[in-house]
Amino acid sequence: MSKLLHIIATPREEDSRTLRVTEAFFEGLENNDPDCRVDTLDVTKEKLPPMTMKAVSGKYVLLGGKDLPEDLKPAWNDIIKHIERFLSADGYVISSPMWNFSIPYYLKHYIDVILQPRYLFRYTEKGPEGLVKNKKMIIITSRGGDYGPDSPSHSYDFQEPYLRAVFGLAGITDITFINSQPMDALGPEIQKQKIDAAKKIAKKAGEAFF
Ligand SMILES: Cc1cc2nc3c(=O)[nH]c(=O)nc-3n(C[C@H](O)[C@H](O)[C@H](O)COP(=O)(O)O)c2cc1C
Repeated sequence: MSKLLHIIATPREEDSRTLRVTEAFFEGLENNDPDCRVDTLDVTKEKLPPMTMKAVSGKYVLLGGKDLPEDLKPAWNDIIKHIERFLSADGYVISSPMWNFSIPYYLKHYIDVILQPRYLFRYTEKGPEGLVKNKKMIIITSRGGDYGPDSPSHSYDFQEPYLRAVFGLAGITDITFINSQPMDALGPEIQKQKIDAAKKIAKKAGEAFF
């Protein structure tokens, strides 16, 4: 049975446009793999481990190729739990609006927690190597403006390139973005059209996910 980790990074619950599109993905997935187990992690509600002095020191210990010393282990208990939860999935869906040209801080916090050496990547003589192999990711976003390739605002999209870079470091390179845009700039009629179009794409992506 496949397991999919769904990471929610909007606090807007039923008002969320991003989650409306994500629902269509799950409808498609239901046709594709009805037994798939979905683990939902809402990072806007989850109490993520704080990246304190001890938590961050552990990262440097691992970067130095050493094991965590006893005094840092308590600060790493929850970090390791989140890493193991992430690694136990066979695939990923992230639902994230654009916030200030990038991602909401909740999702950045989660990335700071899980993207750890020895677990998600390691350094080799040839450069960094991602340790999460052969896993797909769908990232469903919505944005108030339009940052598509033909838009004058395209270069302000730090969300898609950033997420490709961080998860690429972990070895996840099969990433599909489904971006609904513009959600706010051109009024409700365009918003509805763009959400409907994104839902069709999301449903197909769900049908072909596993
Ligand atoms: C704190 C905050 C920052 C935002 N920053 C941007 C932005 O930089 N660019 C943009 O186009 N829209 C921005 N928006 C608008 C949202 O991306 C847009 O309304 C999106 O559809 C919200 O998704 P949701 O309904 O799933 O929460 C921002 C919204 C909030 C609340």
